[in-house]
Amino acid sequence: MKKFKIITLPGDGIGPEITSSAVKILNAISDLNDLEFEIIEKYVGGISIDKYGIPLTEETLSECLDADSVFLGAVGGPKWDNVEHSKKPEQALLKLRKSLNLFSNLRPATIFKPLIDSSSLKSNIIENTDIMIVRELTGGIYFGEPRGFDKDRAWNTLVYNRSEVERIARVSFELAQNRTGRLVSVHKSNVLESSQFWQDIVHGVHKDYKDVELSDMYVDNAAMQIIQNPKQFDVIVTQNLFGDILSDISAMITGSLGMLPSASIGEKHSLYEPVHGSAPDLAGRNLANPIAAILSIAMMLGITFKEQKISSDIYKAVNDTLEEGMGTVDIIEDDKRALSTIDFTDKIINKYRSIVEN
Ligand code: IPM
Ligand code: MG
Repeated sequence: MKKFKIITLPGDGIGPEITSSAVKILNAISDLNDLEFEIIEKYVGGISIDKYGIPLTEETLSECLDADSVFLGAVGGPKWDNVEHSKKPEQALLKLRKSLNLFSNLRPATIFKPLIDSSSLKSNIIENTDIMIVRELTGGIYFGEPRGFDKDRAWNTLVYNRSEVERIARVSFELAQNRTGRLVSVHKSNVLESSQFWQDIVHGVHKDYKDVELSDMYVDNAAMQIIQNPKQFDVIVTQNLFGDILSDISAMITGSLGMLPSASIGEKHSLYEPVHGSAPDLAGRNLANPIAAILSIAMMLGITFKEQKISSDIYKAVNDTLEEGMGTVDIIEDDKRALSTIDFTDKIINKYRSIVEN
């Protein structure tokens, strides 16, 4: 029997509720397959600030370093808005990404057919959209030095070195090879030296992946094209900040931010989390959409644990449940018919059971 140790970091806001959904699906997976999970829960973000005065303790970090994978709910909320910058809940996430060396962040934006009308975009524009955004996650302006502020000025540095760009390019070309073979490198090389550098390196790496069709796009144009004609994209690779922005834009194609999972992968470690935030207005109300969390577990199974069949069964369970017209308030038009987080999670899990058992 394969055994994996998973750290869960529920965090703040709706984090704990959707993490419960993630743990439930993990338990169902291990019931129905020859897999065992040891699940250990730790504090992160605002709740860790409240308990220990810092958003990520050394102990939690070392547990994550020792685990086979990590699931994170969400961090942050208005309660910690006035905390000094370097101690904000979000710093936990950044420190985890850096310490676990999670340099590639995969953010798929896939349309589930039953939800095609919940997007603010027209259905003929978005149908069959399937974009994979590869966001560089441990470099760029998020981490560049020098950074700081004084009374009259504040500054950040956008820096990339060759090996950082090369490795994220390789991840992206390999992904494109396993999809439809198209990669768009998004940057701003008409203005930024660091983007010209990025563009040139990606073209250099392309020589090893000649079967992939590579094109370049400026980030402002990419933001527009994703809305105008999302179907043209397969894999998009871009730097940290542009990926942050473009992944929220592409999320809206799918109708709700509550749908999107993400994987952050390094050479040794991995962390899976919903793209959505802590949604303080929904917190504690049993209203949050558990799909992003459940699909994040599906990604964990497929990518880190190499259990492709389990992963695709979970996707199917989510799709079939949606097809039956079920969902949480964010995706169901008639609020009265919307299910709670817990009930919708149970429906998806029952569906998963019936898929495996039949
Ligand atoms: C994301 C979030 C984070 C980011 C924040 C919470 C630090 O927006 O994962 O997209 O900017 O990377
Ligand atoms: Mg973001």
